[in-house]
Amino acid sequence: MLDVRNVDLKYGQSQILFDISLGAEVGKITAVMGNNGVGKTSLLKAISGRHPIAAGTASVNGSAVQLASAYHAARAGIAYVPQGREVFPMMTVRENLETGFACLPKSDHEIPDFVFALFPVLREMQTRRGGDLSGGQQQQLAIARALITRPKVLLLDEPTEGIQPNVIQQIGDALELLRDQGEMAIVLVEQNADFAYRIADTFTVMEQGRVKRSAPKESYSKEMLMQDLAL
Ligand SMILES: Nc1ncnc2c1ncn2[C@@H]1O[C@H](COP(=O)(O)OP(=O)(O)O)[C@@H](O)[C@H]1O
Ligand SMILES: [Mg+2]
Repeated sequence: MLDVRNVDLKYGQSQILFDISLGAEVGKITAVMGNNGVGKTSLLKAISGRHPIAAGTASVNGSAVQLASAYHAARAGIAYVPQGREVFPMMTVRENLETGFACLPKSDHEIPDFVFALFPVLREMQTRRGGDLSGGQQQQLAIARALITRPKVLLLDEPTEGIQPNVIQQIGDALELLRDQGEMAIVLVEQNADFAYRIADTFTVMEQGRVKRSAPKESYSKEMLMQDLAL
């Protein structure tokens, strides 16, 4: 499991995250929620080694992770699907997937079949350019690219943002399948409360760079969650 403790993060002089702790268990979806600007993306950037932390620690399955760089985090089994997808528009679908190989030994440079099983549309579109895909297909590609590394921890930043309802359903199904395979911890940053409440097992709500509440679904009704999200 992922265990993040007491993380502070700054942009220059301005502190954005304050003493954030977050646990995410294997075989569970952990939703991180909160309004615009509370620091959700900053938290995922910290955990994925994209932005240095000012304080705190992280471990995966009990082993400390150096969050010194994206490479370190990836080697520790942490994969990141960025907000806005960041698909390479001029590269083909296959080439986009192959960028996921960067942190893997040569012997693992093969696209695992389960990736295409999870998102069959990507198999059909392998030779199409990333930029020619719909927003929903690009989101599936971004998730698939993260899965190439067979991560222990999958971080997703607002995967439903700007996406058609039918594709949201497919992405939800894929995340539930990955969860139920029981091999990774999934951290889902979401503003879509209906989607998050439907698929997540546990919730952390942030407010102004701090954790406001962390609770499992059993003790967190949707009404309570909505109340916590309404400032
Ligand atoms: N690169 C940056 N430099 C300075 N401030 C930033 C940067 N990125 C985000 N911020 C600020 O940090 C705060 C949290 O942003 P962010 O993590 O993107 O929040 P969220 O994802 O919850 O909307 C916001 O006030 C935002 O303006
Ligand atoms: Mg964000």
